[in-house]
Amino acid sequence: MPNEVRVKIVSHADIVAARQEARALAIEAGFSLCDSTLITTAISEMSRNVLEYAQTGEVTISLLRNGTKSGVKIVVQDCGPGIADIGQVMQDGYSSRKGMGIGLPGTKRLMDEFEIRSKLGNGTTVTMKKWNWNQ
Ligand SMILES: Nc1ncnc2c1ncn2[C@@H]1O[C@H](COP(=O)(O)OP(=O)(O)O)[C@@H](O)[C@H]1O
Ligand SMILES: [Mg+2]
Repeated sequence: MPNEVRVKIVSHADIVAARQEARALAIEAGFSLCDSTLITTAISEMSRNVLEYAQTGEVTISLLRNGTKSGVKIVVQDCGPGIADIGQVMQDGYSSRKGMGIGLPGTKRLMDEFEIRSKLGNGTTVTMKKWNWNQ
C-alpha cells in the first residue's frame, strides 16, 4: 500500500472514497477502530466544508513515522473563497450558513495537531495530524 493517497473532492461520493482510504491507512498505522473512526470523521467534516464553501478541493492522506511512533497526516486543500477571520470560524457555533458551526473546532479537538491557513480569495488549507500513542 502506498504511503500517500490523494482524493479529489467534487462530490459526496469522493468523501466516501477519502474516508475509505483514510481508514485503510489508519489501520496500517495501528490505530484502533475507534481512533480510525475519529480520523474518518475529521476527513468528513473538512471535505464537507470543501463541497459546501469551495465546491472542489483535494484531500491528501499520508502515513507518518517518527521513530517507533506512527500516525496519519491529512491535508485538505481548496481554491475557494477563503476565510476572512480564522478566529471567528474556530469558535464553537459559528456558521456563515445554517450549519451547527462545530465542524472546524470539533475536528481540531479530534486531532493532535491542527492548522488552518486561509486568505480571502486564495482558498483554504487545513493540515492535521493524529499520532498513535498506543505503540
Ligand atoms: N473550506 C472553506 N472555505 C471557506 N469557508 C469555510 C471553509 N470551511 C469553513 N468555512 C467557514 O467556516 C464556517 C464554520 O465552519 P464549520 O465549523 O465547519 O461549521 P459549519 O460548516 O456548520 O458552518 C463556515 O460556516 C464557513 O463560513
Ligand atoms: Mg462544516
